[in-house]
Amino acid sequence: MNEGIYGNIVRGWSPDLLSRFPEDRFMFVESTGSTNDDLLKRIREGKTAHLDLIQADHQTKGRGRRGDKWEAPAGANLLFSIALRLPEDRSIWTRLPHLTAFVLGEVVESIFPGGKLIEAKWPNDLLVGGKKLAGILVETTLVPEPFAVVGIGLNVNMQTSDLPIELQDIATSVYECLGCESSRSFLLGLIVQGFIKHFPERLSDFDPVLDWIERRSYLKGKTIAVTTSSEKLTGVGRGLGPGGELLLEVSPEEVKAVISAEKIEIC
Ligand code: BTN
Repeated sequence: MNEGIYGNIVRGWSPDLLSRFPEDRFMFVESTGSTNDDLLKRIREGKTAHLDLIQADHQTKGRGRRGDKWEAPAGANLLFSIALRLPEDRSIWTRLPHLTAFVLGEVVESIFPGGKLIEAKWPNDLLVGGKKLAGILVETTLVPEPFAVVGIGLNVNMQTSDLPIELQDIATSVYECLGCESSRSFLLGLIVQGFIKHFPERLSDFDPVLDWIERRSYLKGKTIAVTTSSEKLTGVGRGLGPGGELLLEVSPEEVKAVISAEKIEIC
């Protein structure tokens, strides 16, 4: 089964690309707790190399940011985690979630007709029509060496009518956007190619990522309430700072740079 899925992921790849993502980098599990947990464990046990990837059809303890759950119907969406060896310069590590949104967003837009753009909601949600299409959870470990585990949940073939009623208005999928099913393996192959192409160089040469996100910014120009660990701020979204921080105009004289937030509400 593994070979079949791997073969579909790398179909048509050049020998150079294949050498960067050989078959032993790829693991598929039908069901697991969380692919992020599995990959973090493997890294800490010294069993992982750059671009190791675990894909699951189903997760029983899928995790989102801020301790949220990430739930998805079995066999419909892309649920995977990829290991990236972090560069020495720690000051650019915080850019990785934004780079991931860029890589993922470019892939999704490449299969949308008519140049349709997705929306990028800070810090790194991808939306279509204000509904969530994908979530990104980046976690790091320093042991035995600095690695990031980039966990991605991309709603591919899920039909929102199958979701609990309370989620139907806030989630969408590639299926809902295109009206037909897509090959998860083909999309995964494009995403892996995106990481091979852009990581780690784009973390230093970050302006194209900022420009890409700015053009799709969901919060820009909107009045929003941002709850951080220490305060609640209300202001108008003014795009991103150089490290990917949210710029919030809290008064005509003051723009604050928000590095992380627990909650963001549109007012
Ligand atoms: C979010 O939007 O809060 C982030 C969701 C990230 C979900 C993915 S699914 C694959 C990987 N394994 C997890 O447990 N979480 C991430």
